Amino acid sequence: MFAYNLHHVAIAVHDLDAALESHRLQYGIEASHREVVSSQGVEEAMLSIGGSSVQLLTPLSADSPVGRFLEKRGEGLHHIAYAVSDLEASLAHLAATGVRLIDTEPRIGGGGHRIAFVHPSSFGGTLIELVEVVR
Ligand code: CO
Repeated sequence: MFAYNLHHVAIAVHDLDAALESHRLQYGIEASHREVVSSQGVEEAMLSIGGSSVQLLTPLSADSPVGRFLEKRGEGLHHIAYAVSDLEASLAHLAATGVRLIDTEPRIGGGGHRIAFVHPSSFGGTLIELVEVVR
């Protein structure tokens, strides 16, 4: 069992400020972290809730993965992220079970975490992110 926690659920939005304000007013949840992740073409905010987080994502340009997602599918669930303790071992396990990986090597994501994405065709049309977190 290498995925041991739900790290975050990510929702793509057009307007990050408006989405943060909605979450604050509607659910009383404030962003605990906000960051531009240039390598992924997004600005993201993390909202801690329980032992996990909601991540709100907005594209830096229309010509980026999240920009294209919004164009094609509109706002909504973008990916779910599982916490893992050994990213290389997790990727090797997935590859060995025939799972299609977007990232065969870890890369650096928001918060400086080592992350990798698993192709949505591998499970229920849902993009899955693995985030390496020291337990
Ligand atoms: Co994410």
